[in-house]
Amino acid sequence: MKIGILGAGMIGGTVGRLWAQAGHDVTFGVRHPARLASLIAGLGGKATAASALEAVHGADAVLAAIPFRAWPDIAGEIGGELGDKVLLDATVPDPPRDGAFGDAALARPDGVAFAVAPLLPRAKLVRAFSTVMWTTLGSEAHRAGDRIGIPLAGDDAEALALAERLVTDAGFDPVVVGPLSEAKRFDPGTKVFDSNMSGREVAAPLGLG
Ligand SMILES: NC(=O)c1ccc[n+]([C@@H]2O[C@H](COP(=O)([O-])OP(=O)(O)OC[C@H]3O[C@@H](n4cnc5c(N)ncnc54)[C@H](OP(=O)(O)O)[C@@H]3O)[C@@H](O)[C@H]2O)c1
Repeated sequence: MKIGILGAGMIGGTVGRLWAQAGHDVTFGVRHPARLASLIAGLGGKATAASALEAVHGADAVLAAIPFRAWPDIAGEIGGELGDKVLLDATVPDPPRDGAFGDAALARPDGVAFAVAPLLPRAKLVRAFSTVMWTTLGSEAHRAGDRIGIPLAGDDAEALALAERLVTDAGFDPVVVGPLSEAKRFDPGTKVFDSNMSGREVAAPLGLG
């Protein structure tokens, strides 16, 4: 699969490496692609670095791994190219880093997803990879026994199925929570957020029985 990743930092770089190792073709979209030379060189021809727009172009799915405050600018830059593609959103507001946009998202009763969704109204948005620290993703991928659970929420069934496949390929246990309105169950401040629970452990606090 061709995957565009917006950002190549802790989350983008880690998940991108795992997908490249799983055989996917990864394009990191960043402001300074030349700075990713060593990351790209270590991924055996399965990854390239480009602009955000180029990373979205031709991608079967896109992962957003940018600072939350960058959303208004990035959405304006990629919105036309993204269209109705699958967008996995790992972004989380982190005060005070993300300013008023982040604060407003955290204050929403419907969850942070609904600060992003109106910026890209056609995209098939799935919240994914938003709850687990990058260090855990890097060290626990494909571990034996119960794998780390990655909660997923989105309104499009095909996009959720694709997200499940990509979470599995990265070495984790996908846990579908429901439509995007249920993503608030794993927002910052919930029991699940930053808990490093396995897929089995995460089910009860997510209300999945
Ligand atoms: N770190 C974690 O453990 C963790 C866990 C769950 C969720 N998250 C969320 O995932 C997102 C990424 O976190 P991270 O820790 O990976 O951040 P990071 O290490 O700081 O990486 C951010 C990436 O985004 C790019 N970027 C920064 N500003 C940008 C802008 N204005 N426009 C476009 N690209 C920009 C950066 O590259 P350039 O500056 O070269 O463009 C960099 O590659 C955040 O929303 C964070 O809250 C993080």
